[in-house]
Amino acid sequence: MDSVGASRREFILKTGLLAALSATVGMPVAAWAAEETPKAKAPEIEVLPAEDLMREHGVLRRVLLIYGEAVRRIEAREEVPPDGLTAAAWMIRSFVEDYHEKLEEEYLFPRFCKAEVLTDLVEVLSRQHKAGRRVTGLVLELATPGALKDAGNRRRLADALRMFIRMYAPHAAREDTVLFPAMHRLWTPGEYREMGEVFEKRERELFGEDGFEKWVAQVAEIEKQFGIYELAQFTPEIAG
Ligand SMILES: [Fe+2]
Ligand SMILES: [Fe+2]
Repeated sequence: MDSVGASRREFILKTGLLAALSATVGMPVAAWAAEETPKAKAPEIEVLPAEDLMREHGVLRRVLLIYGEAVRRIEAREEVPPDGLTAAAWMIRSFVEDYHEKLEEEYLFPRFCKAEVLTDLVEVLSRQHKAGRRVTGLVLELATPGALKDAGNRRRLADALRMFIRMYAPHAAREDTVLFPAMHRLWTPGEYREMGEVFEKRERELFGEDGFEKWVAQVAEIEKQFGIYELAQFTPEIAG
């Protein structure tokens, strides 16, 4: 596909995503955010880089749960809400790949490479970002009402979702436990704090005020479409 075709398709998909979200949500973003966040506005406490990146991983993990539920539904021949799946894949593209991973690629990876710390890990993580983008492209192509009617496409979609989950669960876990803690060895406290401000500024520029809360609210709405929002449903009933 040429770049004009690709960007037109991207526009159509994004427009579809917004329409899908507003149709299913039926209330302003601020109202969803209120449901997910404490009512009173707390005094501003700075969010430092590792916390920022780790809570973004939290959103990623919630999309992985949605992908897992989509796979389960495909295998059980149950209905998959195509709008919800497209919206989930667009969250990955916009929030994870075009924002979160760009921060890692621009600010973290080069610093680790320059200091020759964890270079093998950084190389794998970087390769996985590229592979993830290819898989997301495939998911976006296959998660349409038309494509989902075809059994072969449903199988290919399930394979792509499984691949994505299989890679990103360990990817995020390794970053949380090895890469991010090692940041404290390479940045001075001042540089570290400064980087946190840069991350916050970038988030505001791209997604506006309360950008993170809006993404959390969106992922919650998609979870509702897939029937996996209620946390209590996952508590095992064990006597005693
Ligand atoms: Fe990463
Ligand atoms: Fe990450």
